[in-house]
Amino acid sequence: MAHDDTPMPTDLLPHALDAKGFMPEDEGAFLHRVARTRLPSGPALEVGSYCGKSAIYLGAAAREVGGTVFTVDHHRGSEENQAGWAHHDASLVDAETDLMDTVPTFRRTVQRAGLEEQVVAVIGRSTTVSAHWRTPLSLLFIDGGHAEVHAQNDYAGFAPWVMAGGALLIHDVFERPEDGGQAPYRIWRRAVASGSFAPGGTVGSMRELVRVGGDAGQPVG
Ligand SMILES: C[S@@+](CC[C@H](N)C(=O)[O-])C[C@H]1O[C@@H](n2cnc3c(N)ncnc32)[C@H](O)[C@@H]1O
Repeated sequence: MAHDDTPMPTDLLPHALDAKGFMPEDEGAFLHRVARTRLPSGPALEVGSYCGKSAIYLGAAAREVGGTVFTVDHHRGSEENQAGWAHHDASLVDAETDLMDTVPTFRRTVQRAGLEEQVVAVIGRSTTVSAHWRTPLSLLFIDGGHAEVHAQNDYAGFAPWVMAGGALLIHDVFERPEDGGQAPYRIWRRAVASGSFAPGGTVGSMRELVRVGGDAGQPVG
């Protein structure tokens, strides 16, 4: 699908760049462009808020064109965020509980960007939230747990809620195992094989799909 090439607003780009997280600028800009196109049709949902970096790109679009971005995370970090793993950040550990807690950093990020009206945090396990989710989505962005079970659950739980013509974006899609974990690539392949989604644009490891079969609330393969 063609998206306008309006860049990130200049007051918000520094917030996105400064935020802790895992979203290269070009991929975030793509997220922003797709969200600008889609948000007038309904809310967006992100799985994997972490410290709010990608939520700034989505929230910027919501501020510009109107709309709401729900972002789901249990805020305890993925496997690779835990102590001893590659993406651990000790400053995100709650001193009292000794558990990862990205809520305080996430809230500060969104508040400093002035996007609290547009970005709504849903704190919980994605399978719990998806089991109760019933709202058609103009855009679904999957960037939660990258283990196979989590990626598959995120797809199975939320992809049916993408409306006809809506966007499904998947982050960290690597075709070659030597470039990265394969779970996001496998859900991308599952989406294409289902016939419910057709490939759209790609920037870096971010891939867009468009719902071409069925409508929100109807099953996807
Ligand atoms: C790769 S990070 C998200 C990065 C973020 N989108 C950014 O731009 O920086 C993945 C996030 O998914 C969350 N997560 C992992 N498994 C989850 C699950 N089953 N339910 C809810 N959140 C989960 C982790 O807590 C972590 O914050």
